Amino acid sequence: MADTLDFGFHPNPDPMPADERAERLKDPGFGTLFTDHMAMVRYTEGKGWHDAEISARRALSLDPAAAVLHYAQEIFEGMKAYKQADGAIALFRPEENARRFQRSAERMAMPELPEQIFLDSITRLTEVERDWIPPQEGGALYLRPFMFASEAFLGVRPAKEYLYLVIACSVGSYFKADAPAVTIWASQNYSRAAPGGTGAAKCGGNYAASLPAQAEAIEAGCDQVVFLDAAEKRWVEELGGMNLFFVFDNGEVVTPPLTGTILPGITRASLIQLLRDEGLTVREEPYAFEDWRKDSESGRLLETMACGTAAVVTAVGTVKSADGDFTIGTGGPGQITRKMRDRLVNIQRGEAPDPHGWVKHIG
Ligand code: PLP
Ligand code: COI
Repeated sequence: MADTLDFGFHPNPDPMPADERAERLKDPGFGTLFTDHMAMVRYTEGKGWHDAEISARRALSLDPAAAVLHYAQEIFEGMKAYKQADGAIALFRPEENARRFQRSAERMAMPELPEQIFLDSITRLTEVERDWIPPQEGGALYLRPFMFASEAFLGVRPAKEYLYLVIACSVGSYFKADAPAVTIWASQNYSRAAPGGTGAAKCGGNYAASLPAQAEAIEAGCDQVVFLDAAEKRWVEELGGMNLFFVFDNGEVVTPPLTGTILPGITRASLIQLLRDEGLTVREEPYAFEDWRKDSESGRLLETMACGTAAVVTAVGTVKSADGDFTIGTGGPGQITRKMRDRLVNIQRGEAPDPHGWVKHIG
């Protein structure tokens, strides 16, 4: 079965006019300004991956019995294309997204998309939509590859037909651009993932299940939820859409380990490397919610960083919970958070050397 495919290109006959696009790119927000095209590939059991195309972004037609609508066999990725200082376009570690997509597929009993087809779909779509990258600082083309079970069948078993698509949107910052730090709600009522569950997969169901907790967070005036482990409700795991790092006054940094219940973030892996490059000691080990509170109050904990593709690196300023609130450091971004954000963003934008070969130019 095919490991690579030729993507046919069918230009959108009715793209957004350039002046309207330029106007909308001034303040793109996050997740609402979609580009003119999408990539699509079909999968049929026995035939494999076929019919790859880049064509006009449009509504899909689905049978109401499509398995995804009933049993949520769906996975996705999130990645960005950046405009480089010299005008070139680059992706950041895209092969890591391709591999995570394969691992997510395996967990949800879906067919693996060959890495090269994933990379070609991203690269081709980005080439076509290069004018949609906002020119201002913090702007990027956010790429959303996803795959779902399209077979019309109500029996509970892995589907035999799937659609893989990539859509793209122009984005600015995920949080309010002027927010120096985010406020986090510690959910005591809901768990995100349990041992043996789907926490390490990027499947839509994880996010659906996180929404009541996110609604609690919004109700409490917070930006994001932090989830604790399901078994003991003791250990800090991750936010609804970001991983966490804790920076201590002795130069040590702790991040929760990958034990199957949290998403193995690509930003997380990159920050571990960049922190080590700075000579800091990074330990992947469990950190208790009560220690987070105690260490913030004693001043032993200086900073907490939240990180992910959408959020980049953002300081956690305040944590709220039913048992009371606490503030980390000054409540704003500390020295390491600012430094690591700059280090990462400068590599992604080609403004600093890329010692680990993470940036892939696509022309
Ligand atoms: N954790 C969750 C639950 C996420 O949704 C994301 C975002 O993709 C992350 C962590 C960060 O992952 P990455 O750095 O690969 O974007
Ligand atoms: C990403 O960072 O790409 C995500 O998928 C997280 C989501 C909160 C937008």
